[in-house]
Amino acid sequence: MSTYNENAKPKVTAARCREMKRKGEKIACLTAYDYTMAQIVDAAGVDFILVGDSAANVMMGYETTLPITLDDMITYAKGVVRGAKRAMVVVDMPFGYYQGCRDTAIESAVRIMKETGAAAVKMEGGSEIRESIAGVLSAGIPVCGHLGLTPQSVNKFGGYGIRAKEDAEAQRLIDDAKMLDEMGCFAIVLEKIPAALAAKVAAEVSVPIIGIGAGSGVDGQILVVQDMLGMNRGFSPKFMRRYADLANVMENALSRYVSDVKSVDFPNESEQY
Ligand code: KIV
Repeated sequence: MSTYNENAKPKVTAARCREMKRKGEKIACLTAYDYTMAQIVDAAGVDFILVGDSAANVMMGYETTLPITLDDMITYAKGVVRGAKRAMVVVDMPFGYYQGCRDTAIESAVRIMKETGAAAVKMEGGSEIRESIAGVLSAGIPVCGHLGLTPQSVNKFGGYGIRAKEDAEAQRLIDDAKMLDEMGCFAIVLEKIPAALAAKVAAEVSVPIIGIGAGSGVDGQILVVQDMLGMNRGFSPKFMRRYADLANVMENALSRYVSDVKSVDFPNESEQY
């Protein structure tokens, strides 16, 4: 029996992302790490869902994104792919599975695509990982680049501060963005850089620029879904807009449940067989 549904909305694709930029349509992106959240994010009309390696922080409680493994990412991505009906699902290549070796990069990306059914991968870095990106692209796998604050390099940067404030680093970032564009990446995330620089990059390349802490002059925006829903009380950088206060909503509901259980108010007559 075929599962093809000709009435389903078309999936967002790498080609569609490039078309959205050409037509001046903004691209709305969010992260998700599980099936339930992916269904909600997808139903809201988000164009591209990133299974970010920020799962290391948000889902696993690590301080950096470095410890998460390829197997961890694949597990999270499988759930997200099942939950996303329309949005394109992009999976972060985790630290240590693509840097410095083209063959390792291809193997990791192929595993992600084969085992999860995702549509693309994301890789942090520019010219220093050129060969790895070229290898993944040569396997027919769409790649989203990531420049500016690249959290997998936190130990090199010495923290999570704003990147590319100085001319030399800004020029390197522009050159890297042009290189990724020419190589055929379908999008580039620019994280935590001056808004004027991000707007200049977006104007000079044909590849869509997705910003996080990079101002409004770019082609789309991405946020970590738990952060923008207010589930993460400890994190409120300047660039983040909080659209809900779910930590309080959830804690309130959960504590009412606890007190209902303790007072034997739950379950009541109509909630039992
Ligand atoms: O891992 C992640 O969630 C990301 C986004 C913040 C862009 O890379």
